[in-house]
Amino acid sequence: MWSKNASLAGGTLSLAGIPASQLAKEFGTPSFFIDEDAYRSRALAWNNELQNQFGPQAGTIYYAAKSFICTAVAQWIADIGIGIDVCTGGELSVALAGGISPSKIELHGNNKSVAEINRAVSVGVKSIVIDSLFEIERVATAAKKHGVRQSVMLRLTPGIEAHTHEKISTAHEDVKFGFSIASGAAWAAVEAVSKHSELELIGVHCHIGSQIFGSEAHEIATDRLVGFMAKYRDAYKKELPELDLGGGFGIAYVAGDVTVEPIDVMPAIHRAVTDACKKYNLAMPIVSLEPGRNIVGPTMFTLYEVGTVKQVVLDDKTIRTYVSVDGGMSDNARTALYDAEYTAVIAQRQSKAPTTLSRLVGKHCETGDIIIQNIQLPSDIAPGDLIATPATGAYGRSMASNYNHVPKPPVIAVKDGKARVIVRRENEADLLALDVKE
Ligand code: LLP
Repeated sequence: MWSKNASLAGGTLSLAGIPASQLAKEFGTPSFFIDEDAYRSRALAWNNELQNQFGPQAGTIYYAAKSFICTAVAQWIADIGIGIDVCTGGELSVALAGGISPSKIELHGNNKSVAEINRAVSVGVKSIVIDSLFEIERVATAAKKHGVRQSVMLRLTPGIEAHTHEKISTAHEDVKFGFSIASGAAWAAVEAVSKHSELELIGVHCHIGSQIFGSEAHEIATDRLVGFMAKYRDAYKKELPELDLGGGFGIAYVAGDVTVEPIDVMPAIHRAVTDACKKYNLAMPIVSLEPGRNIVGPTMFTLYEVGTVKQVVLDDKTIRTYVSVDGGMSDNARTALYDAEYTAVIAQRQSKAPTTLSRLVGKHCETGDIIIQNIQLPSDIAPGDLIATPATGAYGRSMASNYNHVPKPPVIAVKDGKARVIVRRENEADLLALDVKE
């Protein structure tokens, strides 16, 4: 759950040599702390393993910006040399601000605006992943306007029920994303793209869901997508060169979970592509992946300060201790949205007190403002204690809101005993900045 340079030695938390108490003093709470070295090494591990397994057919690791992006992280990505998957004009802007080459940017989204499409085409993104028949026309119009031939991929739904929370499962039939292979929608999209000389269909894409363990779902998806590529070859007498299998690789949130490592899944993915290509008599395509959570998730923790502690007697007479911290569902919406599980520790001191059934909650005005439903925490927990929740890097800060006019927390990068702000804390002036006074 903790990143490689985090330590709980002696019962207190430190990151890259800096104690949590010092981080809290310098940067305040709540704050997100990112282990820069861990981020870089996780991104590199995906890239290296893709190269190792696929050799000359290795495509690109497109880091999924939606999991967490800011300009500094985009700069790290440019520096590491991987690519990025963006799904809005906003994410595209950050990627460009960080100096990522457009040739390493893929544009996603099930309802890209015409302005977003035009911007992507004009800056020359590597590919646009098309999600609807309307979009085929829109991208073709933009390509004509800019006088270019735009590379596109088709997002396909291979009909897989990946084992994850329903709201983050994306490739069964009844979803808003992509073109279903089974219903014939995908083939209709191929035919529609082929009518536009400004569009170059370079391959197919799928993303089957998020927080998935094992490689079975990706293997089944591979077989269905490669089968589809064979159908294309038979009809058009040429092969589609690229296959993008999306992201979705799971991470550990609580004890007992095991983070998927690229070395655990890449050989199976390679085997699945090789087997499918043999089965359908196709040349090996260029293979890309889009991990988001798996790269950034394990590299951050959130640091809060406890404000109040309250004991509540339940119907069965057990006592639940409500521990309220200075953040909540505005910086971690995942528990409320997906029943996500997290763990937490007291970060600045070791407690020898017996543990007690506790619920970690935020400061928002609603009952569902829960960070951790049930957790055993030391019974001497008190206002002023620092609480750290690990593995909050993905879909934490990126899904943060200003609910109750709470300013969003900063993100602090920590490396080799030095800490620096990469996203500053919002303040009340930021909150008021968009309001127009009557
Ligand atoms: N590629 C595409 C096209 C995607 O839609 C996504 C995530 C990814 C890649 C990256 O998936 P990852 O490797 O991070 O699992 N907010 C939810 C997760 C939603 C994921 C949406 N798409 C959560 O907090 O669990």
